[in-house]
Amino acid sequence: MSKAIVQTVAGGPEVLEWRDVELAAPAAGEVLLRHTAIGLNFIDVYVRKGAYQMMTLPGSPGMEAAGIVEAIGPGVTDLAVGQRVAYVMTVPGAYSERRVVPAERMVPLPDDIDDSSAAALMLKGMTAERLLHKTTQAAAGDTVLVHAAAGGVGLLLTAWAKAIGCTVIGTVGSKPKVDEVRRAGADHVIVTADEDVVARVAEITSGRGCRYVYDGVGKDTFETSLAAVAKYGHLVSFGNASGAVPPVNIAVLAPKCIALSRPQVFPYIAERADLLEAANNLFAAMRKGIVRADINHTFPLAQAAAAHQELEARRTTGQIVLLP
Ligand SMILES: NC(=O)c1ccc[n+]([C@@H]2O[C@H](COP(=O)([O-])OP(=O)(O)OC[C@H]3O[C@@H](n4cnc5c(N)ncnc54)[C@H](OP(=O)(O)O)[C@@H]3O)[C@@H](O)[C@H]2O)c1
Repeated sequence: MSKAIVQTVAGGPEVLEWRDVELAAPAAGEVLLRHTAIGLNFIDVYVRKGAYQMMTLPGSPGMEAAGIVEAIGPGVTDLAVGQRVAYVMTVPGAYSERRVVPAERMVPLPDDIDDSSAAALMLKGMTAERLLHKTTQAAAGDTVLVHAAAGGVGLLLTAWAKAIGCTVIGTVGSKPKVDEVRRAGADHVIVTADEDVVARVAEITSGRGCRYVYDGVGKDTFETSLAAVAKYGHLVSFGNASGAVPPVNIAVLAPKCIALSRPQVFPYIAERADLLEAANNLFAAMRKGIVRADINHTFPLAQAAAAHQELEARRTTGQIVLLP
């Protein structure tokens, strides 16, 4: 038996219930984990609402967590009982005290990476790493625009792009978020409630626009992003916190010869070698202080619904961790 957050129907935060669930013994290639910290991501909202059909109901949301191996199934040779690991998976279910998971998705945690930081950063940190280094080749001297720069991925993109040597322009929805984005390294912060983002970007870049635009907001910002990207630039549309981007006529890319991509981190880390490479790059960046966990909000796992409400109401900054 394990306690878990379970939903039987798609819907608002109120569908998340704290329940007992059955737990099978780990089968071949699996391990039983006791979760120590669980990362909350905006994708959990899409999954909860049914906007992303990634979960069979009844089911538990949650794509990432850290924990301790409590039992190993037949054939698992590279993990041991008592070992600390973290994971990101495409199959939801992390909102639970205990969970049986495939051994091949586990990343052993180094001693200097604590469980909460790992749970907070595995998905969002590897996303920032892949977006900057694989989807784009952000380099010193590039001017980049990061939407929702005070958010989980936003703070990481801001800090990492700054460390690369980019000039970083961040947007935030409201004034209280400005200082945190500046602390992460942004050169300019635009408050979307008060300022015209396109005009401010034009002013900051002397009319040239941004080499890369990283847009996880989606519907509400897509047109702004198109207008803010430079000639020969690249608009990276990687999320839809405000709703899905409507179908796009590719002719809109022609006037500035721009590239448009819609990347997802999961294919980038589907192969084990790629997963370990991305995780090691993230751990190295954490050690060097390039990125920080910035866990600004923790909630008991049983109160996951309250955490969802805060995230959707745009009242959070940085990372949110659920504690079993
Ligand atoms: N493609 C991938 O593989 C991948 C991986 C991880 C995350 N993502 C995406 O990255 C984005 C950020 O994820 P996150 O977990 O780090 O969340 P987050 O940025 O911490 O939270 C979302 C932020 O989006 C902004 N926002 C603007 N309009 C909004 C609206 N109508 N409703 C809610 N928020 C709105 C808010 O910031 P302001 O108030 O400051 O505007 C809010 O804080 C999400 O779209 C997520 O799906 C994609």
